[in-house]
Amino acid sequence: METRSQWGTRAGFILAAVGSAIGLGNIWRFPSVAYENGGGAFLVPYLFALLTAGIPLLILEFTMGQKYRGSAPLTYRRMNKKTEFIGWWAVLIAFVISTYYSVIIAWAMSYSVFSFNLSWGSDTQGFLLNDYLKVVDAGQVGSIVPGVFIPLILVWVITLGVLFKGVKKGIEIANRIFIPALVIIFLIIVIRAITLPGAIDGLQAFFTPDFSKILEPDVWVAAYGQIFFSLSIAFAIMITYASYLPKKSDITNNAFITGFGNSSFEILAGIGVFGILGYMAGQSGVAVDEVVSSGVGLAFMVFPEIINQFPGLNGLFGFLFFASLVLAGLTSLISITETFVAGLVDKFNISRTKAVAFGGGLSALISILFATQGGLNFLDAADYFINQFGVALMGLVEVILIAWILRQLKDLKEHANGISDIRLGSWWTICLSIITPIVLGYMMFGLFKQNLLKEFDTPNGNYEGYPDAFIAWGGWAVAIGALVVGVLITLTKWKRPSTAEEEETLTKEAQ
Ligand code: ALA
Repeated sequence: METRSQWGTRAGFILAAVGSAIGLGNIWRFPSVAYENGGGAFLVPYLFALLTAGIPLLILEFTMGQKYRGSAPLTYRRMNKKTEFIGWWAVLIAFVISTYYSVIIAWAMSYSVFSFNLSWGSDTQGFLLNDYLKVVDAGQVGSIVPGVFIPLILVWVITLGVLFKGVKKGIEIANRIFIPALVIIFLIIVIRAITLPGAIDGLQAFFTPDFSKILEPDVWVAAYGQIFFSLSIAFAIMITYASYLPKKSDITNNAFITGFGNSSFEILAGIGVFGILGYMAGQSGVAVDEVVSSGVGLAFMVFPEIINQFPGLNGLFGFLFFASLVLAGLTSLISITETFVAGLVDKFNISRTKAVAFGGGLSALISILFATQGGLNFLDAADYFINQFGVALMGLVEVILIAWILRQLKDLKEHANGISDIRLGSWWTICLSIITPIVLGYMMFGLFKQNLLKEFDTPNGNYEGYPDAFIAWGGWAVAIGALVVGVLITLTKWKRPSTAEEEETLTKEAQ
């Protein structure tokens, strides 16, 4: 049997895990999510979610991957044969995310070029929607947008190129180069941001808690959603990366470094973004909340506007900002794609080259849908549904399954404690078996209710007011499809008879 790939060094693994965690979620999503959900007050549910769910789940996934040494489907199968489909479901969620995540990186690539001569002009919203993306109504596809399609090819060439090279020579080396570069670029931006006139007003808006928001369930949903997406947990990534750890590697300390490293970067991104927003509000004489908008808008509409108003070196700062999005995005996309590459290698016993070509190629092909004129709407719906009814739901299923159905927490804890610097106490078990299932369970109940009863404050009562048919196909079908396809792949035969005895021994050990 082919031996499993391994990380070259501990630092290599940590950089790859941090590289996966730090992504578009930190720069593109976090600042606006934080602001919309109460600014400083959001930090309370955010830190609660990080400490009670994020880090405990990260430790859990590192332990599972390291102990069972398999992609997510193989890890779940080795834990209990009947749960393989959960692993595939997680992999399929990652697959869906990879198809649109790659497109946002492609936009960022275009925008880093646009930065040099500020091609977006003064109407940055009009430029994004009409000139660049040429957006059509929700549900229509329109034609392929060359300005997105061409950088998208480059995104996939880099990502698949790194994956072809393997774990040590590809993923590890790419992260060793991209992550330090990202940190340096980002520090330059943040230092410039907080020294701009008016930055302090932006920071005040970010850090001043709006405690009335803490009692709103939506704020908690947003905090958990942000932590899961940002830490790359509950969609197969960290299990896969940990499966390449050597037999005697630290788990708990690595998880703390990854979790706190990611959140520090995220809060730094918030400080940078809000410092700049404060400056911009001062320049246009409006309050900070009038210049904040959500996700896509913040990065691709407001930022170009900010770059226009920068006191000097506009083109350079524009380039640095969008280049940081590209670097952060690529290291995450590599990890997202590796989940299905590893799954295919394990299940169908094919070479890494074939798995990258087939799995990565398929995702690249589907991603073209998001590079069409209808792409922005498809992306918005797919992102919302796969995050709420994919990632967050998966997190809930994962903790209930492992803590209550398979009752694996004790064994996994002993395994982690046997090889880690920091010993896990009962806090870990309590977080995973009681606190997280209760909070996530309550959240999911509210989310289903809101979406099924159409309790959104929009014209159609649907998420963002999209038409019913669009929500059915662009949202629900995508989220449910991930589970259905996951089950179908589970039903196919394993092409690795050589793992049978190994599996048996491991299953015995685990029981
Ligand atoms: N963890 C990655 C991000 O934050 C997926 O973008």
